[in-house]
Parts: sequence; structure tokens; C-alpha cells
Amino acid sequence: MRLSIVFSFPAILLIVFLVSASGCAKKEEPKPLAPASLSETETEGKILVEHMCVACHSLERVSSRNETREKWEKIIKEMQGKKPGFISEADAEKMLEYLSTVQGK
Ligand code: HEC
Repeated sequence: MRLSIVFSFPAILLIVFLVSASGCAKKEEPKPLAPASLSETETEGKILVEHMCVACHSLERVSSRNETREKWEKIIKEMQGKKPGFISEADAEKMLEYLSTVQGK
């Protein structure tokens, strides 16, 4: 009788361990769909896109597509060429950061 109590003790410990381990398992947080936050440069780029890229056409033309970084670079260069001096190199760089991150491919 005494012996069985001694032997069952590790078994009880094991059960307690298993129950508490599964009970305490952390539930995974659902992942947000979009990046939670933009870098400072990307935020500036977003504001620039929303203000400068609508000077000649709607934002739809920009926001409706996802492109590689190389393609965005090409598009922005093209748009700079449409009105020389309007979009500075510094602004183009920030807009490229934003577009290739948020509307990348
Ligand atoms: C100075 C005027 C002007 C500005 C500023 C401008 N665009 Fe454009 N954009 C145009 C014109 C005109 C067209 C249509 C003719 C064409 O496709 O070449 C166009 C077309 C486009 C297209 C479709 C072209 C294609 O290859 O399918 C995209 C994408 C685009 N613009 C993105 C942008 C972005 C991004 C910016 C801001 C960085 C911007 N545009 C700023 C004049 C401008």
C-alpha cells in the first residue's frame, strides 16, 4: 500500500505538469494584415505621394498597383520627366521607399 503511493507520486507530478503546461501555453496573437507602422521616411513618402502624384492624375492610378522596387523607380523617373523640377530627387527617394514597401511586389 505504502509502496503504491510512493510510485504514484511521480505520476501525479507528471499529470500536474502536463495540465499546467497546456493550460499556460500562450495563444498566438493574430498577425496584422498590413505592416503595423511605417518608418519615418516611408511616412514622409506616403504624404508626398498623396500630394504630388495627384497633381496630374488621380491617386487611383498609383494606389491601384503593386510593382517591384525597380519598376517604381522607373515610373517615378518617368513622372519627374513630365514636369522637370516638380519632383525633387530627395522627394522621389522617399516616395520610392513608401511605394516599394507598401505597394511592392
Ligand atoms: C507632371 C504631371 C505628373 C505628375 C506630377 C505625376 N504623373 Fe503620373 N502620369 C502623368 C501622365 C500625363 C500620365 C499618363 C501618360 C502616361 O502614361 O505616360 C501618367 C501616368 C502614370 C501612371 C500609369 C503609367 C503606366 O506606365 O501605366 C502611373 C503608375 C503614374 N503616373 C504614377 C505616378 C506617380 C507614382 C507619381 C508621383 C511620384 C506621378 N505619377 C506623378 C503625369 C504625372
